[in-house]
Amino acid sequence: MDAIVADDVHKRYGEIEALDGVSFAVRGGEVFALLGPNGAGKSTTVRVLTTLTKPDSGSATVAGHDVVRHPNRARSALGYVPQDSGIDREATGRENLMLQGRIYGMRGSELKRRVDELLELVGLADAADRIVRGYSGGMKRRLDIALGLVHRPSVLFLDEPTTGLDPEARVAMWEEVQRLAAQESLTILLTTHYLEEADQLADRLAIVSRGRIIVEGTPEELKRGLQGELVTVDLQNGQAGDAVAVVERFEGARETAADGQQVRTRVPNGAQAIPALLSALEGAGIAVASVATSRPSLDDVYLHYTGREFSADDAEGQA
Ligand SMILES: Nc1ncnc2c1ncn2[C@@H]1O[C@H](COP(=O)(O)OP(=O)(O)O)[C@@H](O)[C@H]1O
Ligand SMILES: [Mg+2]
Repeated sequence: MDAIVADDVHKRYGEIEALDGVSFAVRGGEVFALLGPNGAGKSTTVRVLTTLTKPDSGSATVAGHDVVRHPNRARSALGYVPQDSGIDREATGRENLMLQGRIYGMRGSELKRRVDELLELVGLADAADRIVRGYSGGMKRRLDIALGLVHRPSVLFLDEPTTGLDPEARVAMWEEVQRLAAQESLTILLTTHYLEEADQLADRLAIVSRGRIIVEGTPEELKRGLQGELVTVDLQNGQAGDAVAVVERFEGARETAADGQQVRTRVPNGAQAIPALLSALEGAGIAVASVATSRPSLDDVYLHYTGREFSADDAEGQA
């Protein structure tokens, strides 16, 4: 049973093709990440799925409800935590939650019980009656999440839940999200432009770039798909072209490329390859400054499928 399905969703803003045929499915109970650089189309995807904007074409369902034909049914089954917080900073955490509950038509003791439960759930019980202005970044973000959960949705959308948080608060939020997924039996779709976040948090993820899904799978599957370890050789002086020629001839070396004084390649086993690789370079009269191996990361996955560096795309999207 799929909790979220997007099928060939297109969305255009004037000249900009924000979504160029987005398709993916999220199973019930999964934590699924849309990982992509700034401007990739993550928020637009979430806005279509949460009924806040209509797709130009394609279809989507949340908890089995078509988001275009039955937006009210979809809305009652989903919770949405936007990228930019909707909290009233001059009210208390409890007041914010009570108001949100009333918007969803909840009243009286049922609402009070749910608010107490949520404050407990996101660790804000002690701060419930303090004005939000004095909350830390992490506390505000946890209140945002509680707001999205008031009406007991089965599917929760978190748009960049940890952007702007310091590294410590970010790790705490990952634990929070995993706990929520289990305790509230939620399906969670989150967006992020942090590779590490998708790696740590997501059961499965889809990489989004320029309005398209590039690849999807578990973090492990995506990295394993690259087959092999990255070997990076730093040269003492500029002979990268000659070094590439030597490395390319090496048994099992793939995707060999030069970048300034650096040569990168992929081999099935880095530790095994390095001694022979170094002596081959030495034999060709090429002086090596240092050599390192690394297991494939999601950065490598992105580079492999798009031919571009994630960080460069992210900076470009921000401009
Ligand atoms: N309301 C809008 N009007 C015009 N362009 C938009 C609007 N919303 C998004 N876009 C554009 O669509 C593209 C995707 O944006 P978005 O979905 O916000 O990306 P992300 O959330 O991955 O950073 C970007 O080029 C962005 O500038
Ligand atoms: Mg966004």
